[in-house]
Amino acid sequence: MQIQQKSQGINFDKHAIFEENIDQKQRAWIEVKGKALETNVRQLRSKLRKNCEFMAVVKADGYGHDAKLVSEYAIKGGASQLGVATLKEGIRLRSSGVKKPILILGNLYTKRDLTICLKNDLMPTISSIRECLICNNIGKYYKLKFALHLKVDTGMSRLGFSCNKFVQQFEKIKSFENISIEGIYSHLSSADEHNSLDPLSNTQLQKQKFQKLLKQINVDRDHNIKIHLANSAGMLLNKDFHFNMVRIGLSMYGYNPLTKIGKNLSLKPALFLKVKVAFIRIIDEGVGVSYGGKFVTSRKTKLAVLSIGYADGVPRNLSGKIKVIHDNQLYPQVGSITMDQMMVDITGSNRIKIGSTVVLLGSDGDKSISPIDWAKESNTIPWEILCSFKNRLPRVQVD
Ligand SMILES: Cc1ncc(COP(=O)(O)O)c(C=O)c1O
Repeated sequence: MQIQQKSQGINFDKHAIFEENIDQKQRAWIEVKGKALETNVRQLRSKLRKNCEFMAVVKADGYGHDAKLVSEYAIKGGASQLGVATLKEGIRLRSSGVKKPILILGNLYTKRDLTICLKNDLMPTISSIRECLICNNIGKYYKLKFALHLKVDTGMSRLGFSCNKFVQQFEKIKSFENISIEGIYSHLSSADEHNSLDPLSNTQLQKQKFQKLLKQINVDRDHNIKIHLANSAGMLLNKDFHFNMVRIGLSMYGYNPLTKIGKNLSLKPALFLKVKVAFIRIIDEGVGVSYGGKFVTSRKTKLAVLSIGYADGVPRNLSGKIKVIHDNQLYPQVGSITMDQMMVDITGSNRIKIGSTVVLLGSDGDKSISPIDWAKESNTIPWEILCSFKNRLPRVQVD
C-alpha cells in the first residue's frame, strides 16, 4: 500500500513546500550577463553612422535571455528604442517599467489589437492602407495622433507595402490626420550571406530599392522620421545600411552573423547554459547508452548524467555531436539526448562529481562553445538555438 507523506500528519517546514524555495541552480539554468549586453551595445553603437539610433531587438523573450533584463542593459548601453514581435511582448515590457519607444515588428490587423497597442504606448508596424485607416480612426476617436512605423517590402516578401505601389499610397497616408509616421522601414532577407557586398546581391538590391523609394517620397535620413533597414548583418556590412536607425538582435547578444566581416569586434556572449551532474556511473565495454542503444562503449566508460534534455531546448539532433566544458576540459556527449537528461563520457576524470556544474554554452577557462557551433551541427541558425530554450530553464542574472 502506498503511504502518502501528507496523510501522515507531518508539518513540513515551508522550505520544503514552496516552488520558490528550489535553488535556481538546482538542475539546469541560463546565466545572463547584463554587462556583456551593455558593452556589446556600446561597441556596436560606436560603429554607427553619426546620429544613427540603436533599436535593441528583444523579441522572443530577448532571444531567450529574458527580455526585461536585456532591455534594461541594452538601454544602459545606449539603445534608444526596443523592438518586439508581439503585442503581449510589448505589454510585458511596458508593465515592467520600460519607458523607451517600443515597436511591434509583427503585424496587428484588428481594431481591438491596434487599440490595445495604442493604449500601451506601443507602435505598430503598418503594411497596408487598411491598417492605416484603422489606426487613423482609433486616433480620431481618442483625439490624438496614433504613432506608427510604415513598412515597405523591398525583397523579403513578408510584411510591408509593395514597393511599386507605395509612392502613390504614401500620398494618401499623408492625408490621414490622426496618425503620426514615426518611422519607415524595410527588412533585409539575406544580409548574412557571403555575397552581400556584391553589387548584384539581394542585399544591395534591397538597399537600392529602399533608397530610391525614400527619394521618391522625399524623405531622407536627416528627417525626424526614423528610417531603418539593417539587422545585425546589415549594420556590420557598411554604414550605407545605417540610415538613422538600426534594429539589432544577434550581435547585441554577442554573436557575429558574418564570418568575414567584423572580425575586429570583440562581442561578448551574454548567455551561459549550465547544468548540474545528477548521477555518475561506470559501465563496461560493449554497452549501449541511452534510447536505442546506438552509442556502444568501446571501453570501460565513466558516464556523467546531466539534468538537461530536449524538453529544455537542447535539439535532439545534436545527440553525439556536442561537447561540454568542465574546469577547462571538454567532454563528449554520448548517446541520444533524452527529454530531460543526457549522458557525457567523463572517462579518466576524477574532477567531475555528482553536483558538479558543467557548461553547455559559454566559456570556461580558454574553452568556449557557442550557439553558432550548435547551429552548424544541427543544421540550423543560431537564432533558432537561442529561441528554443524553454521556461523550464530559470534565467539567472550573474553580474
Ligand atoms: C524585422 C526585424 N528586424 C531586425 C531583426 C534583428 O535581426 P538580427 O538578430 O539579425 O540582428 C529581426 C530579427 O529577426 C527582425 O525580424
